[in-house]
Amino acid sequence: MITVIGLGFVGLTTALGFSKKGFKVFGIDVDQQKLENLRKFQVPFHEPHLPEVLREQLHQNFLLDVPLKEAIHKSNAVFICVGTPSLSDGSADLNFIYKAIDAITAIESDHLKVLVIKSTVPPSTMSEKIKPYVSAKGRRNFALASNPEFLREGYSWGDFMRPDRIVIGVEDQAVLPILQEIYKPFDAPLHQVSFNGAEFIKYLSNTMLSTMISYANEMAMIADKIGDIDIAASFRILHGDKRWSGEPAAMASYIYPGCGYGGYCLPKDTSALLSIARAHQVDAPILAANLKINEDVKNFVADKISKNVGAKEVLGVLGLSFKPGSDDVRMSPSKDIIARLLANGHKEIIAYDPMANDAFDKEYHLPIEYADSLDDLLDRTSHLIILTGWKEFKERRDDILKKNVFDFRYLLS
Ligand SMILES: NC(=O)c1ccc[n+]([C@@H]2O[C@H](COP(=O)([O-])OP(=O)(O)OC[C@H]3O[C@@H](n4cnc5c(N)ncnc54)[C@H](O)[C@@H]3O)[C@@H](O)[C@H]2O)c1
Repeated sequence: MITVIGLGFVGLTTALGFSKKGFKVFGIDVDQQKLENLRKFQVPFHEPHLPEVLREQLHQNFLLDVPLKEAIHKSNAVFICVGTPSLSDGSADLNFIYKAIDAITAIESDHLKVLVIKSTVPPSTMSEKIKPYVSAKGRRNFALASNPEFLREGYSWGDFMRPDRIVIGVEDQAVLPILQEIYKPFDAPLHQVSFNGAEFIKYLSNTMLSTMISYANEMAMIADKIGDIDIAASFRILHGDKRWSGEPAAMASYIYPGCGYGGYCLPKDTSALLSIARAHQVDAPILAANLKINEDVKNFVADKISKNVGAKEVLGVLGLSFKPGSDDVRMSPSKDIIARLLANGHKEIIAYDPMANDAFDKEYHLPIEYADSLDDLLDRTSHLIILTGWKEFKERRDDILKKNVFDFRYLLS
């Protein structure tokens, strides 16, 4: 049996979704008006499909009006779905969560229960705030899990019933079977991660969406100032790019971390659009930040290596071209990263690129050596830094991972 605390968009959908899958679900809310509406089969907000499912499930698998104590006693999972609004400083207000935890942990538990945080809370909230808060209650038999929700309002029923992924952050492995059983009927990939990881994935998703929206709006403001541009048509034509759905360069490959973009187009075109925006008195902070981050990440990479490897050690650089499958070294992040490593005092750097050794040497004349092959480099150093995501490196994963590897293309993990 399952208890769901908080019957808003997320909680009501969750409660009805689990009911529909055959679980007995107790619904709890502090809002008496909301409960009154639900008892009358009225969903207090607009959300397609929920009224029909409420009519079908209420008094069957979905039960309101069971006292909290009884609900908690009978459940082995308690989903907390209360609101987490913003405080005036922008941080998340956790008070509704704390109040729910107070009420739940006031009840003695005779068997293991998993307290699942489904509300959205920023990364590290569970480990640094909720876990100590629950521990301080001194109650045994309550274990924690983080299970962020990705449903969209307006599509909440379909999104919940046919999830594309389920993310579960746990520390206590004993709770995993309980959650696996609950989510089994949904037949979706279940990713087990850390508490911080689960919380981070939710923010990764939402901030990617908000960044894309702000990016589109910043671009529209620039286009408006430049003039004579059909803004809507421009975006629709952008959506025709085969990267949105096609192979080999699906859009997902752009929303993946690395050590900066390079090449002939992205750096110069981003700079040029920022400069034309400024010429039209448009601030364009996203474009400016975009360029700054591209510099910051290269410094981050080089400084992280310098912090972990002594200046006298031999450094092996894997990849010089700006992207795999190309020998183009123009504006390659490898150049700036190697230059900073040299400036940081590293004297012996040996580089290997399947295609671009000569082009890189000719273009930049840096005081480094070049290896003829991957094996040659593997023989000459124990520290490897991956700066270009070549397929060859992936294929030689096992050999590479025998070394001290800095994988800044996140290629081998
Ligand atoms: N709305 C969405 O599309 C969406 C999607 C994914 C995640 N989320 C996250 O899920 C959480 C809930 O969002 P929502 O839109 O469902 O919020 P909501 O405000 O619609 O619902 C929260 C419910 O919790 C109840 N509540 C508050 N304190 C309680 C307590 N101590 N005991 C019992 N009930 C209590 C409230 O009365 C309310 O009915 C938030 O953290 C939100 O960020 C929302």
